[in-house]
Amino acid sequence: MVKPDGVERGLVGEIIKRFELKGYQLLAIQLFKPTREHLQEHYKDLKEKPFFPPLIEYMLSGPVVGMVWQGREMVKVGRRMLGETNPLNSNPGTIRGDFCIETGRNLCHGSDSVESAEREIALWFPSGVIQWERTKIQKLIY
Ligand code: TYD
Repeated sequence: MVKPDGVERGLVGEIIKRFELKGYQLLAIQLFKPTREHLQEHYKDLKEKPFFPPLIEYMLSGPVVGMVWQGREMVKVGRRMLGETNPLNSNPGTIRGDFCIETGRNLCHGSDSVESAEREIALWFPSGVIQWERTKIQKLIY
């Protein structure tokens, strides 16, 4: 997901580009203006954390772009491409390492496990995603 600061700063294309060039496959994409309740559900595992209220306010500050990506080791490599939660600990070459400096404005979200991805996909894309096949030649490359 591209968070509100990423949308406002015009980084949606840059973020999509990185996943496309890596070889991942886009299965769903939508611009959302989520409700507070929706965001509270999305981040429910963090609801006891002190940063939960400001996190929800930040996520409510503008539209977000939800996406579903598919490919080999998607969760693990996708999280690596995002960088660390704290952008100051994120390596250059990662999205957070290249474009931001504050944990509370860290541009993007990525599911932290396959189980979380399944839960989050069901929450954001309840009508499902588009399943499509790569051509044979692309399958050889990726
Ligand atoms: P978390 O799920 O721990 O990190 P990640 O997004 O890297 O999976 O936390 C969710 C978001 O909460 C995180 O992206 C930014 C915010 N957050 C803070 O504002 N302060 C904090 O100390 C932490 C750990 C997270």
